[in-house]
Amino acid sequence: MSMHPGRRLLLRGALTVAGAALAAPRRGLAQAPAAAPAAAPSGPFSLPPLPYAADANEAAIDARTMEIHHGAHHRAYVNTLNAAVAQAPQLASLELDAVLANLGQVPEAVRTAVRNNGGGHANHSMFWQIMGGRGGQPGGELMAAIGRDFGGWDRFRAEFERASTTQFGSGWAFVTVAREGGLAIVQKPNQDTPLMDGHRVLMGNDVWEHAYYLRYQNRRAEYVRNWWNVLDWGKIEARYAAARAGTLKI
Ligand SMILES: [Fe+2]
Repeated sequence: MSMHPGRRLLLRGALTVAGAALAAPRRGLAQAPAAAPAAAPSGPFSLPPLPYAADANEAAIDARTMEIHHGAHHRAYVNTLNAAVAQAPQLASLELDAVLANLGQVPEAVRTAVRNNGGGHANHSMFWQIMGGRGGQPGGELMAAIGRDFGGWDRFRAEFERASTTQFGSGWAFVTVAREGGLAIVQKPNQDTPLMDGHRVLMGNDVWEHAYYLRYQNRRAEYVRNWWNVLDWGKIEARYAAARAGTLKI
């Protein structure tokens, strides 16, 4: 069977690179004179700054975990999303929630990357927003909705903790909010989000091991229990009002 010309070209290129490497003096990887990759696109999406100090959530999450989670994990989702969108520029002008709600229309070549990294960007952007508080309980219309839809605060909290601890492997537990104010608890694997179902997210907890492993190791239930202590219910109440007004995005 004859070799495909494209394949032969690839092989020749590889041999040339290998030969050059052999002839060149040894040097550290950091100095390797590899062809410079194209600069990673810096947009259209960007990493939002943490809205508080990294140690603001010590009652549940240590500062080092916050730094790695935000500065490495979330940053990687943003960078990879931008790289995917660079291959499908028609997506760049769209709102992220609209892209996620219409993944079937995203070009297949980048669909998985957009799903995982667009979901990751949306989920984490929401996650940072709703923490930095002192826990407690919500008030007003949100508390009334919790009473109506879950039968009270304790049952809501228990059901959310159950969704968080029983999500198998990496994923999230969310509370969704309908335009008329109805609440529901939803589990999602990986970086999937209810935005992909056209729903709005009121709040959600990240139960990937990267969210808790340094302090809690395998004790996810303990992390989930402590997480309530750092919620900012004022922020979540504002999201509830925005969802009802039709202005909540991610
Ligand atoms: Fe995460």
